[in-house]
Amino acid sequence: MKIKVFTLFPEMLRPMLSQSILGRAIKNGLLEVELYDIRAYTLDKHRRTDDYPFGGGAGMVMSAQPIVDAIEANTAGFSGRRVYLSPRGRRLDQRIVEELAREDGLVLLCGHYEGVDQRALDAVIDEELSIGDYVLTGGELGALVVIDAVARLVPGVLGSDESPEDESFTTGLLEYPQYTRPAEFRGRAVPEVLLNGNHDHITAWRREQSLRLTLERRPELLETAPLTDADRAMLKRLRRAEALDIPGERLELRLADQFPRQWINAFVPEAGRKAARKQCISGRRHVGFLWQAFTLGLIDGLTGDKAEAAWRAQPPEEALLFLPDEGLLYRVPGALELPGHVVLTDPDMTRTLLRAADGRRFYAAVDLS
Ligand SMILES: C[S@@+](CC[C@H](N)C(=O)[O-])C[C@H]1O[C@@H](n2cnc3c(N)ncnc32)[C@H](O)[C@@H]1O
Repeated sequence: MKIKVFTLFPEMLRPMLSQSILGRAIKNGLLEVELYDIRAYTLDKHRRTDDYPFGGGAGMVMSAQPIVDAIEANTAGFSGRRVYLSPRGRRLDQRIVEELAREDGLVLLCGHYEGVDQRALDAVIDEELSIGDYVLTGGELGALVVIDAVARLVPGVLGSDESPEDESFTTGLLEYPQYTRPAEFRGRAVPEVLLNGNHDHITAWRREQSLRLTLERRPELLETAPLTDADRAMLKRLRRAEALDIPGERLELRLADQFPRQWINAFVPEAGRKAARKQCISGRRHVGFLWQAFTLGLIDGLTGDKAEAAWRAQPPEEALLFLPDEGLLYRVPGALELPGHVVLTDPDMTRTLLRAADGRRFYAAVDLS
């Protein structure tokens, strides 16, 4: 890939192009970046490259002559796309970056001041590209953004360890959270699932995280992302869970896998669950089931009313709210106000999931079905 940058300030680009992955790619000949100083082509006797705008207005406009001459003098036989970096342009995204990476070469024209005489753009530019809806002082940062993003897609530029395949946008979704050693940092543990070596679970967890983050932060991406049936089912569950309006921070979904439905059933007999649903005439059925789970649950071997009394006497600092069918887990404040409070506990099964201040774990079951 050959990239030719036309700028009044080539020195602004050099440091970026000599470092790290870009520097290595250029050194290894995978990427060729040539910087052209537009000023060297001006025919003005004072070496000026800009002038006042016709029609008045603030600032200066870059003159057409040096730009057109600079580009024409250096693009004989060039086949590729000629781009002017401009806030008016098509807004750059990963799809456009992929388009650009398929070109044989790129010309990148960096504007400065108030911009560029339109006739230069008409003469030597194919397209205007913007790197975002804000205004920079010059196109140099924009050119670097384009070079960097395109370079990553040039075969060989990224080492095998740095594959772009899973990255945000490449999959149509935002990327899942990443972790590296140590497994615990300032009391924050790496999600359990990433440590157990089960690659199917890890892949599933990462996909769920990508879907969740994309839904939260960039839901519009879901309209065009390639989704499987399983993705769509997961999104439906996530949307339903969001609609529940439960206070608290959501935890990693995969943790919930460790709470099979049978486990909930063991604590909450079917009769109890059915009763709960009947009782729940308020329309918040999950709350009704929660109440039942509480009264039937165990705390340190206590059941029913005694369990509830024990819980009330010493509420946990936080509880996990588990949605069995949904596979969702929420961290909720201990003071969560819900009708009836009993929590299912099982120290053996839950040891790895939550460290409550008193060493006990508290769970509430909610039925969304
Ligand atoms: C101050 S800007 C000129 C803005 C211009 N007067 C306008 O309102 O569209 C100077 C130069 O910075 C570059 N630039 C500014 N914002 C940009 C953006 N969002 N994307 C790409 N290039 C940008 C362009 O090359 C532009 O010619």
